[in-house]
Amino acid sequence: MIADSFGRVHDYLRISLTDNCNFRCFYCMPEEDYDFTPASRLMQTDEIVQLARIFVEQGVKKIRLTGGEPLVRKDAATIIAALGKLPVELVITTNGTRIAEMLPIFKEAGIKTVNISLDTLQPEKFMLITRRDVFHQVRSNIELLLQEKITVKINMVVMKGLNDGEIKDFINWTKHNPIQVRFIEFMPFSGNKWTSNKMFSYQEILNQIEKDFTVLPVEGSPNDTAKNFMIPGHDGSFAVISTMTAPFCNTCNRMRLTADGKLKNCLFSDGETDLLTALRNLQDVVPMIKASIWSKKKELGGQLMTHFEKLDADAIKNRSMITIGG
Ligand code: GTP
Ligand code: 5AD
Ligand code: SF4
Repeated sequence: MIADSFGRVHDYLRISLTDNCNFRCFYCMPEEDYDFTPASRLMQTDEIVQLARIFVEQGVKKIRLTGGEPLVRKDAATIIAALGKLPVELVITTNGTRIAEMLPIFKEAGIKTVNISLDTLQPEKFMLITRRDVFHQVRSNIELLLQEKITVKINMVVMKGLNDGEIKDFINWTKHNPIQVRFIEFMPFSGNKWTSNKMFSYQEILNQIEKDFTVLPVEGSPNDTAKNFMIPGHDGSFAVISTMTAPFCNTCNRMRLTADGKLKNCLFSDGETDLLTALRNLQDVVPMIKASIWSKKKELGGQLMTHFEKLDADAIKNRSMITIGG
């Protein structure tokens, strides 16, 4: 079992397969000419599987693959197939561009839930945010997943003045589709141009939705990042991920492995533990994992606790979002 000093059991591992991505969203990466980590410094397929197996032996029950965009990695299919054989729930967060070709692999690996990042339902705005003209491809891939009865969660990062006007459209989408839309408070990462006035808060999101719909709270799972809600008569549902105004760290069960093999004990942790080098030196990584998680801070990596209104995103000691994977 892996636990921290506050008694939180950690049984959910997020593995970033690559910091490369086929999109260029400004809120996720530092700048357009960002240098992706060369393949030689990334965990190799067998190293990912070896580390994942160690985590599973230590009690991990759920593994989420993230990026960058996990499916741009050339050996993504091999990795997914290998991880699918472990006794663990395997899930993925993706931008949705490579679903069609990966679907048979997903099914074989037993992936039953896919989280898709989609911040707008307007093709022109999609292009503005991602710098890629593939809105219709992502939308049709979402339909494909639904046809296959795979659970779909849509991640929509709400940014004031950019897409907060679309909340109602996303809710309308849930009327006849069994999707869960998760509205996410915009979070600060180094180089991502975060300012508090671009943030649209949990309360603002709820107020906006309650203008037009009857909203009922729904009990979630104990370690949920999201606060869950339903609207009577809708096939789908919605949720809010309120890291900034209502953090959920007291039930945190998450660890992160970056694509270059570093363990981060929190999304906002400052330090990290180099598991890949230790593995390559044939060291026992289990004590390193346990020590890292034991030293985890109570909330938000100890960095964001107060006065986020005055926070300077560049002053936070962290990686950029694209190298963490959310
Ligand atoms: P589920 O496993 O389906 O609950 O997904 P998830 O919310 O854990 O993961 P996903 O990759 O879909 O991320 C959705 C949003 O939640 C992103 O903005 C993530 O950065 C954020 N998120 C995921 N895990 C954590 C976490 O441990 N802490 C915080 N503060 N945010 C998180
Ligand atoms: N704030 C909140 N969520 C973010 N994501 C990426 N950058 C941010 C940010 N700055 C989300 C993406 C993706 C998930 C892994 O993290 O939308 O769905
Ligand atoms: Fe866990 Fe850190 Fe996320 Fe809080 S911010 S829920 S402690 S990973």
